[in-house]
Amino acid sequence: ITIYVPRDSAALALGANKVAEAIEREVAARGMDARVVRNGSRGMLWLEPMVEVETSSGRTAYGPVKAKDVPALFDAGLGLVAHSAHPLALGNAEEIPFFARQTRLTFARCGLIDPLSLDDYRAHGGLRGLKKALSMSQPAIVQEVTDSGLRGRGGAGFPTGIKWKTVLDAQADQKYIVCNADEGDSGTFADRMIMEGDPFVLIEGMAIAGIAVGATKGYIYIRSEYPEAIKVMSEAILIARQQRMLGSHVLGGDYAFDMEVRVGAGAYVCGEETSLLESLEGKRGQVRAKPPLPAHKGLFAKPTVINNVISLASVPIILDKGAAYYKDFGMGRSRGTMPLQIAGNVKHGGLFEAAFGLTLGEIIDEIGGGTATGSPVKAVQVGGPLGAYFPRSLFDTPFDYEAFAAKDGLIGHAGIVVFDETADMLKQARFAMEFCAIESCSKCTPCRIGSTRGVETLDRLAQGIEPEKQIEIVKDLCNTMKFGSLCALGGFTPYPVMSALTHFPDDFRPDAMREAAE
Ligand code: NAI
Ligand code: SF4
Repeated sequence: ITIYVPRDSAALALGANKVAEAIEREVAARGMDARVVRNGSRGMLWLEPMVEVETSSGRTAYGPVKAKDVPALFDAGLGLVAHSAHPLALGNAEEIPFFARQTRLTFARCGLIDPLSLDDYRAHGGLRGLKKALSMSQPAIVQEVTDSGLRGRGGAGFPTGIKWKTVLDAQADQKYIVCNADEGDSGTFADRMIMEGDPFVLIEGMAIAGIAVGATKGYIYIRSEYPEAIKVMSEAILIARQQRMLGSHVLGGDYAFDMEVRVGAGAYVCGEETSLLESLEGKRGQVRAKPPLPAHKGLFAKPTVINNVISLASVPIILDKGAAYYKDFGMGRSRGTMPLQIAGNVKHGGLFEAAFGLTLGEIIDEIGGGTATGSPVKAVQVGGPLGAYFPRSLFDTPFDYEAFAAKDGLIGHAGIVVFDETADMLKQARFAMEFCAIESCSKCTPCRIGSTRGVETLDRLAQGIEPEKQIEIVKDLCNTMKFGSLCALGGFTPYPVMSALTHFPDDFRPDAMREAAE
């Protein structure tokens, strides 16, 4: 029998290694013929560490398992019976409602396979997209990605195919593929999960991008806070190279493509594409003015495709099943699926891959199950620390790039952080300004100075000093930062600040402040 214990960072943080050791001990003590596979996570984080056992009727899950539960789980038939009566038994993993309701395209294999087995990857549909790409012309591959409607999953939503076409059309002796794995948004973990749970899908996506635009070299820039992802990706690249998925003849074909992992040093702004490129070149991570676009002059001044992890990891299935298949999911101009990352004060937090179009209310109330504390939801921040706070009155907003923009918000990298009624929105607004002040690369004045003045102004407001005047100053600062900043860090900080002020004015009232001070 095969027993799966996740090696995903979330599961590790909750004691998965100890659980795996306890299972190994129990298997040995009972003389069972069983092997333990360290898989990725299925994304139901409240059930981690979630142990799965291969049975005749599918994968039976148990969770959340602690090492001390393990002997009793074996006594209750773990590995021997399909339906254990143990209180931690969850039944078939894929029938758990949170999982069953998803549309898993990009994350189809995550949590299912051994992340470091290329055979397992191949057996579950891997490499089909790359093989297809090898049989197509470069413009045809780019056209397929364009036709799929895939847009940049890092947050900006720029059409991936158009970006690739710009690089394909550029003339140069060297081109690069850069994968942005500097997943710095609060409440986001989709990039990490796919790198730890299905690294070959990212390698495959990057290889397809390389073939499509004529780039022979790729870099994955991973944040240093992701040591497990760095380990898994690095090992997967070695395996891919040994098994000729990468190298001078990709899968024995005519194209050369290879890649390596580079580790960031902890600056949020290095998730911004041009400072990422600076950092990759060994320089200080500071934003470059655009134009020139990275597609024209990117890494080492060469034409560069720079895409987020999820954009690249979505490419293999597009090539495999065709643009029309992928495009069939979604709504409006938001096509395909998005891995929603539900976090914060929420009952059922985790990764939920779904076609665009679910409403925010469905996501929070039905899928997330409301708050973990059981108190009413007060606000939801969508799109990371630079995303807007949405009140319950906007819960009918469908998850779609344009629908969120129309409500002065953004879906960003699809991080969704839930707050209950105890949240103080003035403090959250101050946090946004402080975050910007700390993380600013200091290249431009609206961001560097504006954020610090923003913190001071909100502090004066909290002290009840001339409140109306402070609110005017905050609005003015936000306006200057939004239109005068060089990149999204300074330019988007006004979203959380202004949404807090607009939707939760009571938290900014002088009397509320005075009461709080008393
Ligand atoms: P942007 O709108 O300037 O650019 C989007 C992408 O399209 C870039 O890669 C740009 O180089 C490319 N592009 C634009 N015009 C092009 C053309 N004609 N040909 C080829 N390529 C073209 O947005 P930016 O500043 O890159 O990203 C801002 C977004 O980043 C925000 O929406 C925010 O949600 C997101 N973000 C994500 C974070 C994360 O952790 N994933 C963290 C912070 C922000
Ligand atoms: Fe740097 Fe901030 Fe200006 Fe961006 S907005 S370039 S982070 S100073």
